[in-house]
Amino acid sequence: MASPRLNVCPDGIRTAQDYRPYAERNLEPAVWQYLQEGEPNVHERQAFEAMRLVPRPLSDVRGGHTRIRLLGETLMHPILLAPVAYQRLFHPDGECASAMAAAAQDGLMVVSSLASQPLEEIIAAAGRPLWFQLYWQGSRERTLRLLRRAQAAGYSAVMWTVDAPVKQAVMRLSAHVAAVNLEPPLPLPELLQYQSVVFDGWMTQAPTWEDVAWLRDQTDLPLLLKGILHPEDASRAIDLGCEGIVVSSHGGRVLPGGVTAIDALPAIVQRLDGRVPVLFDSGIRDGRDVFGVLALGADAVMIGRPYLWGLATAGALGVAHVIRLMRDELEMVMALSGRKQLEDIRVRSLA
Ligand SMILES: Cc1cc2nc3c(=O)[nH]c(=O)nc-3n(C[C@H](O)[C@H](O)[C@H](O)COP(=O)(O)O)c2cc1C
Repeated sequence: MASPRLNVCPDGIRTAQDYRPYAERNLEPAVWQYLQEGEPNVHERQAFEAMRLVPRPLSDVRGGHTRIRLLGETLMHPILLAPVAYQRLFHPDGECASAMAAAAQDGLMVVSSLASQPLEEIIAAAGRPLWFQLYWQGSRERTLRLLRRAQAAGYSAVMWTVDAPVKQAVMRLSAHVAAVNLEPPLPLPELLQYQSVVFDGWMTQAPTWEDVAWLRDQTDLPLLLKGILHPEDASRAIDLGCEGIVVSSHGGRVLPGGVTAIDALPAIVQRLDGRVPVLFDSGIRDGRDVFGVLALGADAVMIGRPYLWGLATAGALGVAHVIRLMRDELEMVMALSGRKQLEDIRVRSLA
């Protein structure tokens, strides 16, 4: 039986990870299992932990800051909330709580296609533009309807997640939590004998590069592709007019044994050579990890599970606290490494 939620952050929380046991205690076992699937992705964490930072004492970092300008938005820090489905599973205030927390921390949330509250309510709770995460809806017409709805609600960029092409399965963890912004799933084609469920079933509803070119022409909003792990794909997306890339392994949840996002990042940064912003997620647990990823060339990061631990423990307050803790850690690592602003962090800026 899940325990009741707190209205305050528990005492003794020093890092985002300290929220984890509270979240586990608060959630039904099946929901906790859903949240943690793919975690820990051991290889991902090994790469983070192997990073060694070089202290640069006596640097004058007075007036330093973590401000960033990203696709037209000015944010006070580079720690975005990643799109995460069905957030009312984790707290009754759901996505609205996370959106409020992101706004209160002068940051940004990316709202999932699989949100459990109406897109319009979430953006109203934030009181400022958010970004919309798009999942392909099985056909161009259905996808466009969803995109137009997000655009009309005031979402200011579209992050299209392409690494989980068929995400129509509706969670059955709770009778009260559903993907309320989506139309009912399209039926899959009937299979003839010897046909493949994957190739002749699911993948008939999955998007291709032609759909990227098509979608790019359907909206003036900035378009980012999330779930890119190969430099060729990153390059191709930019050639088709995408304005950003998210290097992500979906938190290790889609392709078991796949390359880790952190290992894929440097080659993608090198290939794109500053043409568009590169965002990163998967495995970030503290401000030191954020610093490491920016040093490898990402412009900003997204966090997933850590803010859900905060949400499941203390609602909007918990999420805001997680963001603030990570920002404080990032600032401290910057100060100790002699970096006054995010642009100073990049490894190649030291050359
Ligand atoms: C419970 C859960 C649900 C998720 N739902 C979505 C989703 O709806 N859309 C999406 O693009 N990514 C989704 N993701 C992936 C996150 O956006 C992000 O890539 C990942 O959580 C980052 O890894 P981290 O949790 O280690 O920070 C989900 C992740 C989790 C943990």
